[in-house]
Amino acid sequence: MRTSHLFKRCSEIVVICLCTVLVFYLTTTMMDNKRSSRDVKADCDCSKGDIPTKQDTNVKRDAPTKRDIPREQDILTKQDAPKKPNVPSMDDSPKDKGNTFKVNKKPGLSEQTDPTCAREPRDDPKVNPLAKFYSVWYDPPTEVKKRDQVKILIWTELWDKQMRKVLPKGRGAKCSSMPNCIFTGFRAEIHEADAVLFEVSNLQKRHNASVMPKVRYPRQHWVWYHTECPGFPSINFETYKSVFNWTITYRADSDSSGAWGSLHRTYQRLEVEGVDPKKDYAAGKKKLAVWFISKCNTQANRVAYATELVKHMHVDVFGRCGKTVCAKWNVTCMPGIIRQYKFYLAFENMKCKEYLTEKFWRNALANDVIPVVLGANRSDYERLAPPHSYIHVDDFKSPKQLANYLMMLDKDKDKYNAYFKWKTQPPKNIPLEEGVWCNLCRELTNRCPNKRKLYTNLRGWFEGENRSMCDPMEDVEYKELQFENNRFKVASYA
Ligand SMILES: *[C@@H]1O[C@H](CO)[C@@H](O)[C@H](O)[C@H]1NC(C)=O
Ligand SMILES: *[C@@H]1O[C@H](CO)[C@@H](O)[C@H](O)[C@H]1NC(C)=O
Ligand SMILES: *[C@@H]1O[C@H](CO)[C@@H](O)[C@H](O)[C@H]1NC(C)=O
Ligand SMILES: *[C@@H]1O[C@H](CO)[C@@H](O)[C@H](O)[C@H]1NC(C)=O
Ligand SMILES: *[C@@H]1O[C@H](CO)[C@@H](O)[C@H](O)[C@H]1NC(C)=O
Repeated sequence: MRTSHLFKRCSEIVVICLCTVLVFYLTTTMMDNKRSSRDVKADCDCSKGDIPTKQDTNVKRDAPTKRDIPREQDILTKQDAPKKPNVPSMDDSPKDKGNTFKVNKKPGLSEQTDPTCAREPRDDPKVNPLAKFYSVWYDPPTEVKKRDQVKILIWTELWDKQMRKVLPKGRGAKCSSMPNCIFTGFRAEIHEADAVLFEVSNLQKRHNASVMPKVRYPRQHWVWYHTECPGFPSINFETYKSVFNWTITYRADSDSSGAWGSLHRTYQRLEVEGVDPKKDYAAGKKKLAVWFISKCNTQANRVAYATELVKHMHVDVFGRCGKTVCAKWNVTCMPGIIRQYKFYLAFENMKCKEYLTEKFWRNALANDVIPVVLGANRSDYERLAPPHSYIHVDDFKSPKQLANYLMMLDKDKDKYNAYFKWKTQPPKNIPLEEGVWCNLCRELTNRCPNKRKLYTNLRGWFEGENRSMCDPMEDVEYKELQFENNRFKVASYA
């Protein structure tokens, strides 16, 4: 009922808008467009599902000649209005705009004056080899620019039917520091959406137009949201060529960061919790090392490494492959177990660039246990993680040497506690990273209004040229793990 009502309203508005835009278009084409991009703000309360009207908007006094038309009206008309020379439609495919880094021959004023529109070096394939996998261009600046509000429509379900948890009322502000960003799950609000979010595990494997939005507006960002690394079940990339404008992944070079954790959030949390510089992090810990693993017969590399490791030290193994004491995502019971240990094996299931997951941030770091990491290169951890907060397996010639080192730390309280010094010594210039919802909100708020981007080869960008984003896992022949007294052995390991 809601939807049909909205549609009815929409069609009425479309008719009004068509006329308005015609008048507007005739007016504007006769004038020089000299307004800066920030002059007009359309204040609307889209959280009420209202499509703003002209009365809702206000125009700054230095722009008296222009009649303000909110962007919703602007975009609404585009699908119906005949193609106008200045207004690219959704059919105005950038394919013929060259591969990358194309800028309109006559750059608009906003591009020169709006710092957010400065060309980014990372869009230049000479600077960033991955830039060849997407297209960047600038549409002519239009009169109506930024609004105070940003709307993000989550089009798909989220992960394992988590939408209702994320948006209990179907709509809301998910970023407390930026309440101007409204997230909604109501698809009818597509016309007002600045961004439309598609979570990868809830996308059909092959692109299927019938489940995608029927309309697409030039200013709207279709955002591909993926939390895992290449190698996990994903979509058929070929069928999703030239569909998404932005990406959210764990990688820092995504359009908006979907990192599992960050220095920023970690130190923010410590500010709230408080840090006792004299705390002994070894106190009360009677157990040595713990490993939670749920995927036992895939990605043999870490299993092989751990198998070798447990020959030299005691490791308790939990999860589907070990003793099941606690479901993987049960945040109630996991901390209680993890906190009894000195070390947590934060072994990622892939060795991919910047792929640090909740194993590292939430399970280990947040539980005051030293993470022993296997996964991304050491240089990635150096850049992304708190200094001297982890032990990287690449620093050891063999699992045996690592085991010896861990057992040495177990006996040396001071050396053990040195791995927690980072808590009292925050690095300088911590990059802003406030979690996925705030990150997206900020990127959308700060975006250049007329910059356009499209991933023409999503796989190329995500996996890297020749799949260079992930190192191959070593080829290890092994059979089912066997468990004995909460320790595991491998039946056959070559
Ligand atoms: C597209 O999605 C619809 C709705 O889920 C489904 O019925 C249809 O079979 C899909 N088409 C293809 C080609 O997968
Ligand atoms: C999580 O673990 C606690 C303690 O073991 C248990 O009581 C609770 O039912 C578990 N919750 C879920 C969702 O599995
Ligand atoms: C997203 O891509 C579509 C398809 O090419 C394009 O029409 C639109 O302008 C792009 N939007 C942005 C914000 O880049
Ligand atoms: C990818 O592989 C191709 C063919 O082997 C090679 O020509 C190219 O230089 C490689 N690119 C990178 C970045 O390694
Ligand atoms: C890790 O570092 C090595 C050596 O610098 C490099 O060749 C490799 O591509 C890096 N791997 C990843 C996944 O970043």
